[in-house]
Amino acid sequence: MTAAPADISVTAKVSAYYRKFSDIAFAAEVATLIGAEDAFAEIVRNHGLEHDKLTFYAPMFEARYKSITQLIRNSGASQVLELACGYSLRGLDLTRDSSLCYVETDLPEVVATKLGLLDELRRRHEIAPSPLHVVVGADALDVEQLRAATAVFDRSRPLLVLCEGLIGYLTREETGRVAVNVRTLIDEFKGGWWIVPDFAFKTEIRNLPPERIRLREAITGVTQRQLDASAFEDADDLASFLGRFGFEAQVRSQIDETPSFSTVAALDLSPAVIDRLRPALRVWFMTAVTAG
Ligand SMILES: C[S@@+](CC[C@H](N)C(=O)[O-])C[C@H]1O[C@@H](n2cnc3c(N)ncnc32)[C@H](O)[C@@H]1O
Repeated sequence: MTAAPADISVTAKVSAYYRKFSDIAFAAEVATLIGAEDAFAEIVRNHGLEHDKLTFYAPMFEARYKSITQLIRNSGASQVLELACGYSLRGLDLTRDSSLCYVETDLPEVVATKLGLLDELRRRHEIAPSPLHVVVGADALDVEQLRAATAVFDRSRPLLVLCEGLIGYLTREETGRVAVNVRTLIDEFKGGWWIVPDFAFKTEIRNLPPERIRLREAITGVTQRQLDASAFEDADDLASFLGRFGFEAQVRSQIDETPSFSTVAALDLSPAVIDRLRPALRVWFMTAVTAG
């Protein structure tokens, strides 16, 4: 099942909805400004989901976001390219102290909405526009668009690329195209890294709990994309796939890389939820290696 990439864009509102329960910078405001609650309520209504059971997933979105931020901070990278950024405000947050140059990309419609959102947030929080923070349309499957987006970066330094919540919507062939594109870009810099929190394994998908399966079916209905079509058989299958593009991966725990959880208390969830989620919440920190 394939559909126009823009059909995937509504899912950016789902992530924004879940982040609103957290203490992530700007998350609650953004969710209100883009109408994330209404978008989420419509999916719940149209697919007969039980709203109450779904708050359980807020810590997943919190961990995904915070662990990536932590890995960026610890990497020592000074320039970051985010693919499929959606309505995440990490770029605005991390460029406030001018320590990073951050370029965010997504499909044109999302970028147009996001630019308006950023104007509003900068106005409200008195944050001046910065040349170190760029938001521009680029299809992750198109290397020329991505290359154009990286024009602002210094080629004599390493590049860190990340995509959060994109891979699950792609086919294996598309995942390969993104991998080639990321590797091609990094090769134009002094090395670099690629962060992905959402590679999936077929065995794990078969054993998901029923509410999670229903939510995934709802997302498939909305996006016309079969979720995790690019799922790997197992860790070895993924490692050999990444190896073909010259990436060596370290697998980290999103839970361990998350400095603190706010959604557990905010939603009155059992702290045991974190341990239940632990095995599924991984993040791949990949280094571009050269054959030697
Ligand atoms: C689940 S959302 C994740 C958004 C954001 N990273 C977050 O965590 O909130 C998936 C995003 O992928 C974007 N997307 C889908 N196909 C894309 C493509 N080919 N190139 C760039 N972005 C794409 C959608 O527009 C959407 O914003």
